[in-house]
Amino acid sequence: MMKVLVVGGGGREHAIIWKLSQSPRISGLYCAPGNAGIGRMATCVDIEATDIKSMVQFSKDNAIDLVVVTPDDPLALGMVDAMEEADIRAFGPKKDAALIESSKVFAKDLMKKYGIPTGDYRVFSDYNEALTYLKGANYPQVIKADGLALGKGVIIANNFAEAGMALEEIMVDKIFGNAGNRVIIEEFLEGQEVSLLAFSDGRTIVPMVSAQDHKRVFDGDKGPNTGGMGAFSPSRAYTPKIAKIVETEILEPTIKAMNEEGRPFKGVLFLGLILTQDGPKLLEYNARFGDPETQVVLPRLRTDLLDIFLAVVDGRLDEIDIEWEDNAVACVILASGGYPGSYNKGYPIRGLEQLDGCQDIIIFHAGTRREKDQFLTDGGRVLGVTAVAEDLDTAVKNAYKGVDLISFEGMHYRRDIGLK
Ligand code: GLY
Repeated sequence: MMKVLVVGGGGREHAIIWKLSQSPRISGLYCAPGNAGIGRMATCVDIEATDIKSMVQFSKDNAIDLVVVTPDDPLALGMVDAMEEADIRAFGPKKDAALIESSKVFAKDLMKKYGIPTGDYRVFSDYNEALTYLKGANYPQVIKADGLALGKGVIIANNFAEAGMALEEIMVDKIFGNAGNRVIIEEFLEGQEVSLLAFSDGRTIVPMVSAQDHKRVFDGDKGPNTGGMGAFSPSRAYTPKIAKIVETEILEPTIKAMNEEGRPFKGVLFLGLILTQDGPKLLEYNARFGDPETQVVLPRLRTDLLDIFLAVVDGRLDEIDIEWEDNAVACVILASGGYPGSYNKGYPIRGLEQLDGCQDIIIFHAGTRREKDQFLTDGGRVLGVTAVAEDLDTAVKNAYKGVDLISFEGMHYRRDIGLK
């Protein structure tokens, strides 16, 4: 029997805890910092996800057998390295491999060096040189901050005025701090975006089922970017033929490339793909499970997630069969009024009890807290109403039936999740 600690506290972590709680081999499940929904399935520990020292100390004091590091920032800060130094098994890439997400310049240069299909790009560390380049460019252009920027560091500029404003914010005003010391200016690619997550132990890479997310706040992909307003799996556009190309031209070459660079990648590799007329191309890597993609992918996993995590950590992923249900899942995010801008917290959430024990609808908590028996809103993204069904159309319909039962002051959500 094992004691497992999951680092993080959003909907993604709730989905991981939900799946791990089905494992017969877990005797203690902990989450730091967790949230109110997670608290019904695991012991929440009041440690910030980026507090490496306290996380290691807690793991030692409580004889934790496995730590699952999920969010991007503790990975980029080296939490997995710190756990290993303390002789604690940890799931996730080490700091030097997490660079594949924490530096967009490293990632693009890796793609170019190893012939992995992606858009053309230029890197700038000088504001004036970047501005001169943008003056002569054709539009749209994509402008990306090099470092981690809470998912907000990618701007699509439709003309020079928009590009200039984005560049000034990133490189002069430093709205993302040092993440904006360098920028990538990249060709705009057209096509359907697909998220593909894969488990890797550094030698073997096994793709999960495909997913798509909805990043913009309003229906029809309008309004500002968010952390994600919903997701569904599988993607209708991700055909077996495309999957094969992605495996041979992107996934396998990436694992090989990271080994050649002396940065073996262990954990979850997330491909942000775009399906162009010239075939699938890679927009970006993430070094972790996606949010909200995890909420629609893990309910489809038949295999014990603990077995997979241990196989990855121990470098024997080739020894296990990872099985998936032939079904579909849709997740609609319920957000606080004002999100992704400023919003108030602490509003009572009504209707959750009507979905307790429901087999086909799972509520993943993203930003909630509890006062006595009452769940309160506690974040921009509050809940992910997730429906599992035989096909995607039914999953979407059922997710919205679940949404209709829930309410809180200011609640908003997209009405077109899973329709594209
Ligand atoms: N859904 C995109 C991400 O997790 O970064």
